[in-house]
Amino acid sequence: MKVLITGASRGIGLEMVRYGMDQGWEVLACCRHPFQAEKLLSMAQLSNGRVSVHLADMSELATLQALAYELRNEAIDMLINNAGVYGSDKNSFGQVDVHDWLETFKVNSIAPLKMAELFVEQLSMGQTKVIACLSSKMASMADNGSGGNYIYRSSKAALNAVVKSMSVDLADKSIKCVALHPGWVKTEMGGPNAEISARESVASMFAILRALQAEDSGRFIDIDGSDISW
Ligand SMILES: NC(=O)c1ccc[n+]([C@@H]2O[C@H](COP(=O)([O-])OP(=O)(O)OC[C@H]3O[C@@H](n4cnc5c(N)ncnc54)[C@H](OP(=O)(O)O)[C@@H]3O)[C@@H](O)[C@H]2O)c1
Repeated sequence: MKVLITGASRGIGLEMVRYGMDQGWEVLACCRHPFQAEKLLSMAQLSNGRVSVHLADMSELATLQALAYELRNEAIDMLINNAGVYGSDKNSFGQVDVHDWLETFKVNSIAPLKMAELFVEQLSMGQTKVIACLSSKMASMADNGSGGNYIYRSSKAALNAVVKSMSVDLADKSIKCVALHPGWVKTEMGGPNAEISARESVASMFAILRALQAEDSGRFIDIDGSDISW
């Protein structure tokens, strides 16, 4: 299995790299500051070449294009669009920061589509043919009882729309596209009061991803494998 993971420097992405390493997979671990990603670099050093570290800044399209060119001959089984930002705290009614909203859209909504466009040939050469995008239950209209959080909610809802369209457009290539809620996870974004560890989240998500069938493409999936209402 060969897996490409974005946002691999810390949090859920770094744990995905560790999980893949434990499984004996080849991991293409991407981050925006490779020379500062100390935990990732030391993991790669211990991996006997199975983990490689690459530059990919989700707000700089040129870095994604360069990466796709560098990896043009690689057959990739899974593309995991994990990198994400919460955005500014100026996120409530009357305060929303427009510049930050646009920047958050670049990372959370646009870059995942661009990664899929740039890596579709490599995924076609792979066996598993999965594009997984880390979404959030906060994107769900049905689940929104508390309002606010305009930037994060809308950027992940836009990501869900991207996933749904990709599932239709890539069906003829047998590429399965899903939006995944990782649970409320103890990371910098999730905070220390979150419900589950990154390890638990990652193990559950990979169990779901490895069992995906063609009919699952286009789903918005919770950490227990159930559907989340849009
Ligand atoms: N934690 C939760 O409870 C939770 C719940 C629902 C959804 N999620 C989603 O799960 C994903 C991972 O979350 P997390 O909890 O691991 O967050 P995190 O601890 O804040 O880590 C975010 C990761 O994304 C990377 N990143 C941010 N901006 C980037 C950019 N422009 N280019 C490349 N990488 C970038 C960060 O890299 P740097 O180290 O360079 O900053 C870091 O590796 C996100 O998409 C998040 O929205 C998390």
